[in-house]
Amino acid sequence: MSKKLVVANWKMHGNLAVNQQLIAAYVHRLLPFNNIEVVVCVPYPYLAQMQSLLEGTPIAWGAQNLSKDTEGAYTGEVSAGMLKDFGASYVIIGHSERATAYCESDENIATKFMQARTHGLTPILCVGETLIEREAGVMERVVAKQIDTIIHMYGAAIFADTVISYEPIWAIGTGLAATPDQAQSMHEFIRNRISVHDIDAAQRLKILYGGSVNPQNAVQLFVMQDIDGGLVGRCSLNADEFAGICRAASETGLPQV
Ligand code: 13P
Repeated sequence: MSKKLVVANWKMHGNLAVNQQLIAAYVHRLLPFNNIEVVVCVPYPYLAQMQSLLEGTPIAWGAQNLSKDTEGAYTGEVSAGMLKDFGASYVIIGHSERATAYCESDENIATKFMQARTHGLTPILCVGETLIEREAGVMERVVAKQIDTIIHMYGAAIFADTVISYEPIWAIGTGLAATPDQAQSMHEFIRNRISVHDIDAAQRLKILYGGSVNPQNAVQLFVMQDIDGGLVGRCSLNADEFAGICRAASETGLPQV
C-alpha cells in the first residue's frame, strides 16, 4: 500500500485574493495529516501564485490540462515545459468536462499523457462513463477503450508511477457519488486491465475516485482496496470540507509518521 493521494481540482474558480485565503487555510488545516499526499490543480494563470505560496510546504500543485505538442505555432496552448517552469508536478488529463466540451479524442488524450511523462510531470488521467453507458451495462468497455488507447500507443509500462482517476460522468457535480462497491469494482477492473500487460506498472499506479466526494462519503470510499484517494471538485473550494476529505484519507491510509 502507498500513501493515499487527495487532489483538489479547482476547475475555473478562484482569483488572487480568494486563492491566497484558501491556500492559507489548506496549509493550516492539513498540517496534521503527514501520511497522505495532497495536490491542488489550478487554472494556468495561478500556477505562479501556487509556486510562491506552496514552495516549501508538503502540498504540491499542478494544472488542469496541457498541450499535446512540445512547442510551436499553437495559439492559446500551454506546454508541459511551461508548467514545469512554474514548479507544477501534476497535470489532469482528459477530464470529461474538457473531453466533451472541447472534443478531445482518446488519441489526443494519450498523446498528452505521453507529453506529461516525457517532461517529468505526473499525469492524472480521467476516465469514466455516462449514465446511459452505465445503464446499458457497457461502462467497463468505455473505460477499457480509454486505457487501451494509451497501452496501444505507448505500452502499459507508461502507467508506472502515474495516476488514473475514475470519474463516472453522472457523479460529477451532481451530489450523487458512486457507491463504494461500484467504485471498487471499476478500480479493480482498471488495475487488472493494466496488470495483464505489466504487473509492476499496475501496482505502482494510483487509482483515485472522483465525483461528488465529500467529508461524509470519503471514508467509505477510501477504505476500499483499490481506491487510493480522491479527485475532488466542489468540496475542494471549502478548506473545512477539503480537510475533512484529507482526514478520511489519513485515517484509511498508512499509519501517521
Ligand atoms: P465534484 O467533486 O464537484 O463532483 O467534481 C468532481 C470532479 O470533476 C473532479 O475532477
